[in-house]
Amino acid sequence: MAQKAVIGVTGLGVMGRNLARNFARHGYTVAVHNRTYGKTKALIEEFGHEGAFVPEESPEAFVAALERPRKMVIMVKAGQSTDAVIDEFAPLLEPGDILIDGGNAHYADTERREKALRERGIHFVGSGISGGEQGALEGPSIMPGGSRESYASLGPILEDISAKVDGAPCCTYVGPGGAGHFVKMVHNGIEYSDMQLIAEAYDLLRKGAGMTPAEIAEVFRTWNQGRLGSYLIEITAEVLAHTDAATGKPFVDIVLDRAEQKGTGRWTVQAALDLGVPVTGIAQAVFARSLSGHADTREAARVLTGPSADGGLDSSFADKVEQALYASKVVAYAQGFNQIQAGSAEYGWDIDLGAMATIWRGGCIIRAGFLDRIRGAYETDRGLPTLLTDANFAAELGDAQDAWREVVVEATRRGIPVPGFSSALSYYDALRAERLPAALIQGQRDFFGAHTYLRTDREGVHHTHWELPGRPETRTDA
Ligand code: 6PG
Repeated sequence: MAQKAVIGVTGLGVMGRNLARNFARHGYTVAVHNRTYGKTKALIEEFGHEGAFVPEESPEAFVAALERPRKMVIMVKAGQSTDAVIDEFAPLLEPGDILIDGGNAHYADTERREKALRERGIHFVGSGISGGEQGALEGPSIMPGGSRESYASLGPILEDISAKVDGAPCCTYVGPGGAGHFVKMVHNGIEYSDMQLIAEAYDLLRKGAGMTPAEIAEVFRTWNQGRLGSYLIEITAEVLAHTDAATGKPFVDIVLDRAEQKGTGRWTVQAALDLGVPVTGIAQAVFARSLSGHADTREAARVLTGPSADGGLDSSFADKVEQALYASKVVAYAQGFNQIQAGSAEYGWDIDLGAMATIWRGGCIIRAGFLDRIRGAYETDRGLPTLLTDANFAAELGDAQDAWREVVVEATRRGIPVPGFSSALSYYDALRAERLPAALIQGQRDFFGAHTYLRTDREGVHHTHWELPGRPETRTDA
């Protein structure tokens, strides 16, 4: 009898195919299946020599090819297709088997699916997988949720094929239910935020300092050697240095300036609103993409007046932009980690924030040298209320803030939009403030709606009778 497969992959699009190859390259016998057999055949023809693949045409044969407890990864477009695949395969599985969803599913869908399959004795593991096509093949960052029991047999395989940093795998058990997909969602939200901040830095250097894309590419290359060192900074340099073959123009100048989104950034903000976590950097990034896409509204450019963005700054301004970018980035990540903390508390997932920073150091889109410092911050204090108060980050932000403020001022003066930089700075200043104008808002609420307020100097819930002479105050909880 043919050797049973250790794991299977159904859905052989680019991500699924590369993930299957990654398993095979690591010596695992991997069963492969696709809705149409053509893709399965193509995979074997092209890459069959890379390892032990078991191509199967029918779901029944695919499931039968797996050793028990069966482990099969679904790699299809998140949404209805995932439910369709689950409906097709779940009846073929037995209690103890493990069904892994490696797509970008919404965590609430994962919670629902996990609960339904648990009732049938099947482990459903919603797993974030980040790193794009290349990551899937060469080592992604993997964020599996579901039962801890399933991780005992599945975890070692996933850790094996994940990226490694300092010998440590970029994969760990995240938490039960939809925890894995929640963390992946926030990863994507941070990704949006990071990309927006980088784009603002580029725009400032381009318009404010009059630098060419090629010159800015050099700046990004230099930054990549320092504390900003990351995959996104590295690829930004590549994109900016690229020349369009058809026109000879910088590539960035021939691309339509409307940023698209598949939805994970938006989900992050929606979830943050429900949890009451101010992820202002992620929200600004999502809205900046939306704004860029509103062609009709942007017709306003013909009418609205303002200063000329061009010039006036020299290339030494780049150092200040580096500081503003770094500080804003710390804020964005701090907000994202707070959202994971809040989600974990809300759903009882007990997510280890330091471990999340550890598995994001490699493989994923937001991989960056500085994630090791976030890991360190949570290692020092697991219950840190915000990364900004970690002694090292607080000192860095303190050092960066003069330049950060100057960059926001110069951008404002020139009319260059910097929603990411400025909202991050406002967040920093809000956290620094001993008193916020929220007190006035409480007063307004009490005035028009008797919504009551707490006092700084006395216990109890109070209301001022604004309509009565002398505006007497009563304690409403007495
Ligand atoms: C990853 C990415 C990936 C995501 C892209 C595109 O971690 O590998 O996050 O999952 O699909 O980033 O996202 P948008 O189309 O929404 O920009």
